Amino acid sequence: MRRAAILATLFIVGAGVAVAQSDPQIERNDQMKAMGQQFYGALARMARGDAPFDQARVQAAWPLIEAAAKKAAPLYSAAPGQGAPNARYSPSPKIWEDKADFDARFVTLAKAIADNKGKTASLDEVKAAVGAVGQVCSGCHEKYQVRN
Ligand code: HEC
Repeated sequence: MRRAAILATLFIVGAGVAVAQSDPQIERNDQMKAMGQQFYGALARMARGDAPFDQARVQAAWPLIEAAAKKAAPLYSAAPGQGAPNARYSPSPKIWEDKADFDARFVTLAKAIADNKGKTASLDEVKAAVGAVGQVCSGCHEKYQVRN
């Protein structure tokens, strides 16, 4: 009986998490945050000299960035809404005025990541990769990201 109650509680908690995660505004913000953690938090810090070059860390970061970018792109097909609660940034309504341009930037991002994720051999390579991909991130942010 006690065991059943515990299982029931776990099920309810699990269902709650599933509901929270199915909000595209939260999900896409989570993917952006994940990209930021790896890209700005690890790679760009190395490129700037704020963290030592760590090849294993570089090799770990790119697949995570690539996966998050792939997950984020389709999540912007949902209506604009209010943006994710507690997010530092919200998506601009301009996204849905020129969705083709916005979507094309995700395609450009995927290509930039594919072209640069192999540049892991030296700090100079990381700098080049961060420069090339970072340009795509900030190009989209300048146009479509709104500070809360
Ligand atoms: C196609 C457009 C686009 C591209 C490309 C893009 N982003 Fe974003 N990003 C956004 C938008 C829109 C937001 C606003 C927050 C949201 O949508 O939830 C955002 C927000 C963010 C945030 C802030 C999250 C928060 O609220 O705390 C980070 C960090 C971030 N992006 C990282 C990245 C990185 C790193 C890249 C490149 C590897 C990247 N983004 C590429 C559109 C883009």
